[in-house]
Amino acid sequence: MRLTRRYHFAASHRLNTDALTPEQNASLYGKCNNPFGHGHDYVLDVSVEGPVDASGQIVGREALDALVKQQVLDRVDHRNLNCDLPELKDRVATTENLASVIEDLLTRQWSLPARLARVRISETARNTFELETK
Ligand code: NI
Repeated sequence: MRLTRRYHFAASHRLNTDALTPEQNASLYGKCNNPFGHGHDYVLDVSVEGPVDASGQIVGREALDALVKQQVLDRVDHRNLNCDLPELKDRVATTENLASVIEDLLTRQWSLPARLARVRISETARNTFELETK
């Protein structure tokens, strides 16, 4: 059985890599390379998977919410992802990389009875990224 909980956070980022010239960055990332960044209202779906326990649940919602708040939302909400998230310091602040960082932040402190099954982030109404965990 799977449970998906939905969370929201607002953050800014800029897509840029030191491995490329300013011209190459502008060409590769377009307006997402604008020097002062831009923001998104991200939607984060966290899915957990496991058996239904004696209480009739996969996992306590409060325990999952507390973990997501502590490990993710407190680090990213109303932040600049390039500057405020050390885990993205040496990576381009794409939502693909953000999903990977969020998976790592969650599994680092994971102590819930169900396993983390998926991290899904919608960056805009048109862009959604899904990371299925093993
Ligand atoms: Ni963006």
